[in-house]
Amino acid sequence: MSALSKWIESVVLRAVGPEKFGRLEYQLKPRRRASWGGPMNGQAGRLRICRDIVTTLSPTAIVETGTFRGTTTEFFAQFPVPIYSVEAVPRFHFFAAYRFRELRDRVHLTLGDSRSFLNSLAADPTVPKNNVFFYLDAHWNADLPLAQEITTIFANWRQAVIMIDDFAVPGDSYAYDDYGPGAALNAEYLDRLGRTDMHRFYPSLHAAEETGAKRGCVVLCNDAHVQERLTALSSLRPALR
Ligand SMILES: C[S@@+](CC[C@H](N)C(=O)[O-])C[C@H]1O[C@@H](n2cnc3c(N)ncnc32)[C@H](O)[C@@H]1O
Repeated sequence: MSALSKWIESVVLRAVGPEKFGRLEYQLKPRRRASWGGPMNGQAGRLRICRDIVTTLSPTAIVETGTFRGTTTEFFAQFPVPIYSVEAVPRFHFFAAYRFRELRDRVHLTLGDSRSFLNSLAADPTVPKNNVFFYLDAHWNADLPLAQEITTIFANWRQAVIMIDDFAVPGDSYAYDDYGPGAALNAEYLDRLGRTDMHRFYPSLHAAEETGAKRGCVVLCNDAHVQERLTALSSLRPALR
């Protein structure tokens, strides 16, 4: 997008406010509904991992942090379970809210910070607390919510599975996020959490064979039964310890 188009959008956004802007953007710019090249960054291998996880574990709910425009939320919404997603930027939240307006009884979108969102879900008795699949994708800058997100999830949910997007895959060339010292999404970041109960899995597929943006990921669990089920999936490989 040109600098002029960006400036015009910022003027319109200020004039009409984020709710109306999000709706207009959804209606007038349909190509923006497929941001990042499609769900899961346009990565066929990653979509397969998700389908495998959902098939083998039948999660009771799916939680996403970082809705953006709802492209991956839409992929999750095909599974007949409640979906919860949070977005910090109002114009993106309202874009997605309009997108899922007819599914709002099942696709629950929240405007806010992922850390307080997860705490709210943990305190909400209507939200399932067992066997929930979490997709953590709310990383955008040096204010990384990831450590707190993981801690909150494992403290409040039993048999949780966590997939983290944009994560370095050891020994492979997948792209990952690096926001500076102590804020790279890699194995050392997880090591610093100091947890001895966490099992890690990486994609079996090499980046060279993946489609789309070839962003890496890690899948985490802290339950022996879930670990066994994930170990049986050919799309994942357990991390070498
Ligand atoms: C990479 S995008 C998410 C893409 C989306 N999951 C998808 O697959 O289409 C990251 C999003 O997270 C949001 N974000 C960043 N920090 C956040 C936070 N602490 N809480 C909630 N959302 C956040 C950003 O505004 C951005 O829209």
